[in-house]
Amino acid sequence: MIDPKSVHSTLQSAQLVDGYPLVLDLEKSKGIYMHDSRTGNDYLDLFTSFASWPVGYDHPMMADEAFLKDLMIAARNKVANSDIYTTQMADFVQAFSTRVTPDEYTNHFWVSGGGLAVENALKVAFDWKAHKVGVAKVEGGHSMVALHFKGAFHGRTGYTMSLTNTDPNKVALFPKFDWPRVSTPAVEFDTDGKICNDVAALEATSLAEIDAAFAKYKDRIACIIIEPLQGEGGDNHFRTEFLQALRTVCDEREALLIFDEVQTGFFGSGKAWLWQHHAVAPDIVAFGKKTQVCGIYANNRVKDVPENVFDKSSRINSTWGGNLVDMVRCKRFIEIIETEKLAENITARGAELVQGLRGIAKESAKISNVRGLGSLVAFTLDSPATRDKMLSDLFDKQVMALSSGAAAIRFRLPLVIDSAGIATALERINDCLPG
Ligand SMILES: Cc1ncc(COP(=O)(O)O)c(C=O)c1O
Repeated sequence: MIDPKSVHSTLQSAQLVDGYPLVLDLEKSKGIYMHDSRTGNDYLDLFTSFASWPVGYDHPMMADEAFLKDLMIAARNKVANSDIYTTQMADFVQAFSTRVTPDEYTNHFWVSGGGLAVENALKVAFDWKAHKVGVAKVEGGHSMVALHFKGAFHGRTGYTMSLTNTDPNKVALFPKFDWPRVSTPAVEFDTDGKICNDVAALEATSLAEIDAAFAKYKDRIACIIIEPLQGEGGDNHFRTEFLQALRTVCDEREALLIFDEVQTGFFGSGKAWLWQHHAVAPDIVAFGKKTQVCGIYANNRVKDVPENVFDKSSRINSTWGGNLVDMVRCKRFIEIIETEKLAENITARGAELVQGLRGIAKESAKISNVRGLGSLVAFTLDSPATRDKMLSDLFDKQVMALSSGAAAIRFRLPLVIDSAGIATALERINDCLPG
């Protein structure tokens, strides 16, 4: 085995190495701490591998023998799940579709990668709308578009690059579609957690832009796609009223409403899906990250058209159809989350962190707009440079955190974090406040 001190140089000889300087020790990392086998330091994990690792390291329930047996069987083989079915797959699909997906969503599709989950959500919508307007018309060049939002991050695949508009470097030079993009009416919070900006006015502007887009593109708009809480674009929260207005537009204008919950889903918000906090039900949800295996679930609106992608073979597909190891692991996560009541835990712990950060914001003007829901917590600094410096100071204090938007820091907490972990987080954040 390569020596930890040689990991980066070994990788460098074969690939771009622009990641963290630490070398994660998967045996010595425990719970909310990531062990660096280069230095022996333990890092407080407030980033969870970009919101993708839900239950901390070395969770005792992951040592269960029956689970390990299934995991090993799945790992020793690689099955083309789209066409070759196994008991392990059926166990997973049953658990996910009955304990995680709400009842009205009976159409699932599995794939590897969040970007590809979104990509396939778009394909569902394009196919659906093509049947609505008439296949002959579409074959004659009447092409569909996806209405989306400024500050959106939906991935870096073919279609999703036309939607993603955070760091321009991520999509520059690649061919993209010129699809309608409208403004993002983000809520801002004061130190008591009350809305402190004129968000109703921002919503009215955004909805007017949506109206104008429908006037321009008419029946070419197949869907409205939004992250119900924008992650990379700035941890931007929306009011229920706005998401409801999008629902109404989609119903009236015959478009599908797609929520991208790749970053927010699977109990990250304290509920299985963030949209459940708003009770505004979308037509399609794209998921990934914490779910391990990625994909979409859709309601029966897509079945309005007889030849929809869930009934007609090969319209959406991939060889692996997700990944069986990820499916087995995801099922175990569902069991852990239920047994340990982690949705309730992260709701309470996230609120503690938000409350602590608002306390800090009351004392100093250095941080503002503290916001959060469950594991998804963020605050804003006065400039991108101050934010970058604080992130680097946090890393020096052995805290893993993430940037978000122009000047925010975001945390993606492990669902297992306890109050002691939150207290340590607040202590280290306090130590790193800009001078
Ligand atoms: C909201 C959202 N959608 C899509 C993606 C793309 O997921 P992946 O990186 O797994 O392709 C991400 C990744 O950060 C995301 O946050």
